[in-house]
Amino acid sequence: MTDVELYQLAEEAAGGAYAPYSGYLVGAALLTASGKVYTGANVENASYGAAICAERAAALKAVADGERAFLSMAVAAPGTNAPAWPCGICRQFLFEFGEGLRIVAGAGAGSLSVRTLAELLPHGFRLEKYEGY
Ligand code: THU
Repeated sequence: MTDVELYQLAEEAAGGAYAPYSGYLVGAALLTASGKVYTGANVENASYGAAICAERAAALKAVADGERAFLSMAVAAPGTNAPAWPCGICRQFLFEFGEGLRIVAGAGAGSLSVRTLAELLPHGFRLEKYEGY
């Protein structure tokens, strides 16, 4: 699975977005160490703060399916001209499962950039009692 292929799955996943308030459609595709891909899209709510981002939607599906080891996540907001890097809440959410995760973003499959989660969220929060995934 190349970064371009993963990004294209994220673009497709954006088709499932429910974003009547912002009109900003986001898709995410998460590649696990076991070789599976879980996709997600943003789901908004009339109580705006209750919105769930595409990244967390994808990660939730993977974690609920028993997956814990993640390699790469692509994020796409088709039709926009700026990369959709994950928001702060999503960075922390993903940090729980490892800071080595590669995040792939871009303004289209032809202009992808890659950053690790450690680069996007230095010094993320962990509980002291944390003992492993
Ligand atoms: N959103 C995402 O799904 N992912 C991001 O990386 C940034 C923002 C969503 C939340 C909301 O539904 C809409 O985009 C506008 O903020």
